[in-house]
Amino acid sequence: SRPEAGGDSHPEKLLTPVLSAFWDQSASWTLETYRRHEGYEGLRKALAMPPDDVIAYIKDSGLRGRGGAGFPTGMKWQFIPQGDGKPHYLVVNADESEPGTCKDIPLLFANPHSLIEGIVIACHAIRSNHAFIYLRGEVVPVLRRLHEAVREAYAAGFLGKNILGSGLDLDVIVHAGAGAYICGEETALLDSLEGRRGQPRLRPPFPAVAGLYACPTVVNNVESIASVPAIMNRGKDWFRSMGSEKSPGFTLYSLSGHVANPGQYEAPLGITLRQLLDMSGGMRRGHRLKFWTPGGSSTPMFTDEHLDVPLDYEGVGAAGSMLGTKALQCFDETTCVVRAVTRWTEFYAHESCGKCTPCREGTYWLVQLLRDIEAGKGRPGDLDKIDDIADNINGKSFCALGDGAASPIFSSLKYFREEYEQHLNGKGCPFDPARSTLWA
Ligand code: NAI
Ligand code: SF4
Repeated sequence: SRPEAGGDSHPEKLLTPVLSAFWDQSASWTLETYRRHEGYEGLRKALAMPPDDVIAYIKDSGLRGRGGAGFPTGMKWQFIPQGDGKPHYLVVNADESEPGTCKDIPLLFANPHSLIEGIVIACHAIRSNHAFIYLRGEVVPVLRRLHEAVREAYAAGFLGKNILGSGLDLDVIVHAGAGAYICGEETALLDSLEGRRGQPRLRPPFPAVAGLYACPTVVNNVESIASVPAIMNRGKDWFRSMGSEKSPGFTLYSLSGHVANPGQYEAPLGITLRQLLDMSGGMRRGHRLKFWTPGGSSTPMFTDEHLDVPLDYEGVGAAGSMLGTKALQCFDETTCVVRAVTRWTEFYAHESCGKCTPCREGTYWLVQLLRDIEAGKGRPGDLDKIDDIADNINGKSFCALGDGAASPIFSSLKYFREEYEQHLNGKGCPFDPARSTLWA
């Protein structure tokens, strides 16, 4: 839900709806609606260009991966070796599962053709004839809508043989995952797609060199690929006119938690949480911001002191966190930070794939200690212990899940150590749980 726009001076003028431009229209997900909104025009332009020129164009646009890491998309495409005689694959990571992250799923639900058009452009660029969409399996309505959009695209000649007379043949397969967070890690996703248990592979080699079936593979996030058609159609300069020099363009921010109007807000990179809250109606009435995550629970938390941090890769990095998935989870003063961190850590312990010891054992141990602290059964020294365990997970685990699990521990101890101590000294939570709607 969004407030009504109200003229030039209204903060909503900061919004830059591109991917979300017609989500509120009836049947926004159909090919017919998409074509009324410049749909498949970017593809026509891309197919008229040699593949290498498309790669150079996306590289020059400055588009960075929207899955969390912000790796330059054009550069990733350029890594695919040419003339190697091997098949090349494009795999779209639609296994969105980071706590608080909910942008790719609504995007696919409301506008699946932007992804399909982006897939065809990307496959033309990297010379691929096979693309896979690995979708989070729990979202069955999105799965159905995606299947239908793929069917429509085949029927209209945007997929299949000799697309728009260009000579490009492309098949797209939609694959539903089975509900494991780790399968969003790109190499675990590839193992899962190949029919194996989803566990991360050693990198390097990166998927660009040896990915799906040991062939060169581009793994891109949904939002990254869906952003490509508009860049091809409206131009890289238009894209660069938004955002900052190193983090250009528009993006989807997911506002959630104790805010008045949670939802997706499409705005330039570099906007601040203060601006997003101003335009969306702020925190819920009568409450104030206590802490928030810039990009899901795997990114170190911020407090109300960070309201003016520019939400781009450099700005958030300089302030000590990561932009991640732009999942802005906002918590007000009624929230117990120990309880929030315990809940997140339970998630990581549950989702740890078990392959490496620091993460498998460390997350389990952290949960035991945090539950005790939260319940008023903590012991002196527990805070140093959780800090030490997190330190033995961070940077010593096999994949990024371990680092993500350590993030909320470090950042909450940094900003809210006193609140942990209150739990220890007062033998329990100083918050009245009845006051917190989030944990009801
Ligand atoms: P990463 O920085 O290791 O890699 C990013 C991408 O660049 C990968 O596709 C990788 O293959 C590629 N790459 C990096 N160096 C390369 C090289 N030298 N040669 C070729 N390719 C190279 O980040 P990672 O581990 O893939 O992702 C971590 C991020 O995922 C976190 O920042 C987190 O925010 C995000 N995340 C997102 C979730 C979601 O639901 N969307 C869930 C959990 C984490
Ligand atoms: Fe598995 Fe955790 Fe190790 Fe990643 S860090 S490989 S999720 S046990």
